Amino acid sequence: MVEAREFVAKAISEIKSKVKSGSAIIAASGGVDSTVAAVLCHRAIGKNLTAIHVDTGLMRKNESAQAVEILKGFGLNVKLVNASKRFFESLKNITNPEEKRKIIGGLFIKIFEEEAKKITGADFLVQGTIAPDWIESGGGLRDTIKTHHNVGGLPKQMNLKLIEPLRDLYKDEVREVAKHLEIPAAIANKQPFPGPGLAVRILGEVTEERVKILQEADLIWREELEKAATEEKIKLPWQYFAVLLPIRTVGVLGDARAYGYTIGLRAVESFDGMTANFLKIPPELLEKIAIRINNTLKKDINRVVYDITNKPPSTIEWE
Ligand code: XMP
Repeated sequence: MVEAREFVAKAISEIKSKVKSGSAIIAASGGVDSTVAAVLCHRAIGKNLTAIHVDTGLMRKNESAQAVEILKGFGLNVKLVNASKRFFESLKNITNPEEKRKIIGGLFIKIFEEEAKKITGADFLVQGTIAPDWIESGGGLRDTIKTHHNVGGLPKQMNLKLIEPLRDLYKDEVREVAKHLEIPAAIANKQPFPGPGLAVRILGEVTEERVKILQEADLIWREELEKAATEEKIKLPWQYFAVLLPIRTVGVLGDARAYGYTIGLRAVESFDGMTANFLKIPPELLEKIAIRINNTLKKDINRVVYDITNKPPSTIEWE
């Protein structure tokens, strides 16, 4: 484990000597990795860094606005790009998970490039890549299981030199550094979130309407688990989220027959995401949460299931 203070001092001085009087850009997603990379870099080169946040429309509820707020709070120069329409357009009729990932990754790069071109004279690209990102993406140690869109791609097509200050760190070390930088706990302890966002948590076609349904269910699940953890009914899991299954099943709504989608709930314990065990949750708590989800989304959801598979044989995400 690196000592956070030492790491920060060294990283800042390395960025300074690399960038000199040049300027840099970063794609800031609002996750802990890119936020730490952005804040470190801002400490080193100040206003010569521009953070670009691309709102893909595939983030959790209110997440983009929150991400931008926090970065601005650190004094960063931030540009928010609302690109959700373009993402939904390009995902029309796409159901294959790898195809979704490739489309989202490709469009993300395209939009980021367009924005980067508007910032005249940027020489460097800062990325929040951490060790498991390149290891899991086939960095030589194992096969590619899923395409992680936040790795590679960008620098090859853009004439920018790469800065990856967190490349040798694992997640727990990044969180330590985040705390040392006084990044709020809401970000420092944020659970991992896949690059393609909610698109890989909506099985089948991704539409704006489905994203809205999933965002609501996901927020309820997270709120309830966090509340239960505060009340010491459960231990807050390593990662927890909802997925939307767009197959319809029969239910009852009042006196009428309902025919709605299913929400899948996932909560896992893990150390680094390589293996995971599902969280054993008291059935009464699951029942209460299922009722809240059904009541809130009664028009669209009439079934809630809890995923009791470990990784392996499953992966943590459903796609
Ligand atoms: P899986 O589903 O492969 O996920 O068991 C392991 C961990 O990686 C996260 N994940 C991603 N993270 N870009 C990322 O940065 C991605 O494309 C991506 N896909 C999965 C997942 O949320 C879990 O924490």
